[in-house]
Amino acid sequence: MTFDDTFVSEITETPQEEELFTSLRAGSWDAFHGQNDVKRSLQIGITAAKGRNESLDHTLFYGPPGLGKTTLSHLIAKELGVNIKVTSGTALSKAGDLAAILTNLEEGDVLFVDEIHRLPKVVEETLYPAMEDYALDIVIGKGPSARTLRVDLPRFTLVGATTRYGLLAGPFRDRFGIIHRLQFYTPEALSTIIMAAAVKLDVKIDEASALEIGRRSRGTPRIALKLLKRVRDYVQVHEIASIAAKGVQDALDMFAVDKLGLEESDRRFLKQIIQKHNGGPVGLSTIAATLNEDVLTIEEVLEPYLIQVGMLKRTPKGRVVSKMAYDHLGEKYVKE
Ligand SMILES: Nc1ncnc2c1ncn2[C@@H]1O[C@H](COP(=O)(O)OP(=O)(O)O)[C@@H](O)[C@H]1O
Ligand SMILES: [Mg+2]
Repeated sequence: MTFDDTFVSEITETPQEEELFTSLRAGSWDAFHGQNDVKRSLQIGITAAKGRNESLDHTLFYGPPGLGKTTLSHLIAKELGVNIKVTSGTALSKAGDLAAILTNLEEGDVLFVDEIHRLPKVVEETLYPAMEDYALDIVIGKGPSARTLRVDLPRFTLVGATTRYGLLAGPFRDRFGIIHRLQFYTPEALSTIIMAAAVKLDVKIDEASALEIGRRSRGTPRIALKLLKRVRDYVQVHEIASIAAKGVQDALDMFAVDKLGLEESDRRFLKQIIQKHNGGPVGLSTIAATLNEDVLTIEEVLEPYLIQVGMLKRTPKGRVVSKMAYDHLGEKYVKE
């Protein structure tokens, strides 16, 4: 495999994987592990809204891919006992698309907009009165005879998800009553998720192995589930009866996932900065150009975890690689 096709391999999904994830998607609060603060606060909000017979406040989730934003949105609808209508910022290209969806909602429904930072400006602005007053302003006719017609909407809950909080306009953010940032998971939380998925997939795995996979999953449930699946394939092909620590090590080593969960793409990114730019600071666009990779992908997919574990820093002058990264990659650290 070349660098280019492994680059985002852990994040993007093939159709088969999409199906796997849908089947593994947590269907209840109990099956959703970790993110306890987020869970608790949502549960309170939902109980209160139900008690008052009102719709839940508009809710925004942000954070790196694979941490559970989509899953939580479905859980909210389930818990509220309402329908969920799913769309995305890229699918809604015209204000009319949005109007069609909004006018078809039922009282209390959840409208889930994934990648909400990609909504075109006109659609976003149509959403403002819808979010605030549950109304749509529709312009009828053109020129001097044009007039605006206000259409009432059912009280709905907009749930938005984004990997790019910073790209949302202030007035848009302000219209969400509930905003949560999802955090990376601990290896322990991930091992619980892995054990639960193993039961569903009918594979035997011991706790030490689940924890080992958890440690190598970059704090991300989606990656943990993918690694579990790869390990499952590996033990099946090698005719091993159940997943044990040794099998996990071998399988993950074979897939070049190292002790900290970094993949070839992460290591190549860090090495680039170390070897070509003396560890930084170096501008993101410069690295992106030499790696032949898109700036957004690096920022959204690759960097958050490297920053979280302390291997990379974003500074005003550019990216800087830490001593820890040098040590991890076996590179000599010569800087002060
Ligand atoms: N806290 C969690 N507990 C159990 N499974 C989880 C959790 N968070 C995510 N998952 C699983 O990980 C996969 C990716 O989650 P998803 O909600 O699609 O992430 P996002 O929308 O943030 O990219 C799904 O299969 C989901 O069931
Ligand atoms: Mg999602």
